[in-house]
Amino acid sequence: MTPYSEFPAARLRRLRMNPAFRAMVSETRLAAADLIYPLFVVPGKGIRNEVSSMPGVFQLSVDELVIEAEEVRGLGIPAVILFGIPEKKDEVGSEAYNENGIIQTALQTLKKQVPELVLITDVCLCEYTSHGHCGIVRDGEILNDESVDLLVREALSHARAGADMVAPSDMFDGRVGAIRRSLDDAGFLHTPIISYAAKYSSAFYGPFREAAESTPAFGDRRSHQMNPANRAEAMREVEQDLQEGADIVMVKPALPYLDVIAEVKSRFGVPTAAYNVSGEYAMIKAASRNGWIDGEKVMMETLISIRRAGADLILTYFAKEAASLLRERG
Ligand code: PBG
Repeated sequence: MTPYSEFPAARLRRLRMNPAFRAMVSETRLAAADLIYPLFVVPGKGIRNEVSSMPGVFQLSVDELVIEAEEVRGLGIPAVILFGIPEKKDEVGSEAYNENGIIQTALQTLKKQVPELVLITDVCLCEYTSHGHCGIVRDGEILNDESVDLLVREALSHARAGADMVAPSDMFDGRVGAIRRSLDDAGFLHTPIISYAAKYSSAFYGPFREAAESTPAFGDRRSHQMNPANRAEAMREVEQDLQEGADIVMVKPALPYLDVIAEVKSRFGVPTAAYNVSGEYAMIKAASRNGWIDGEKVMMETLISIRRAGADLILTYFAKEAASLLRERG
């Protein structure tokens, strides 16, 4: 028995004939509540530097950050993820775990001024090291276990300063478990970890590295970030992070890895996030500025496709624009 009748009885266009029908049978929805907005914090006062390769995205000093955060919250976006650009960088990224560092200061201020906003922090050393690598480098090798010790200190100092969730983005082995254990030991039993679980070594991060001033001075990140050719390995990464205590797993980038998002969601059924990264944003902005595409429509199509693939949450530089548009549409 075939479950559906065939043409001419079945006319799939019937339910596409007006906006009300189309909305009723829409399989996927996008809401401001699904979005997480990335923000870049710099030292100083009154600073609002636009990132040239990311129109509409700014490096902000803490005072400006508060204004931005209030706007984000007002649009119904529940969470932001913070990236810090420190006053000074060194070989071991000391500013990443300085109690009075840029992120720690931003957290303390935001917690007071915008208490309802969920504050997530990116836990990595690349913005803080003089060489731009995600951990300690010795004889040209990016060390794993020694770097994890520093990431643990960074995550703890974020939690102490008021982070609601921490997001390790380095891709070193064992970091989720190490961070979980030390958060628990310090009494942060209920601080979730959103892990960059399947993070690929991607050229789509180019504009971010301008925004975060974190381009590696030599070499690349291929000894820890994943090979774009691999999908089965992404499942192992996700499985391991879940075993180590990750609460939300992330796939990054999003658009070139929709198959990975879909498999992660269907296989593990856990809260899944996708990072619609800087290069994905920059391409749409550039083409739209040239009048080559309708930027707004391409943005919405991109975001719904990431949701359709299976992502519950999307980290995206489009969050404010998309949330405004969703609000206008009602
Ligand atoms: C590492 C980190 C990166 C991004 C998020 N966290 C850069 C990298 O791995 O080189 C990229 C995000 C983007 O491109 O939007 N701290």
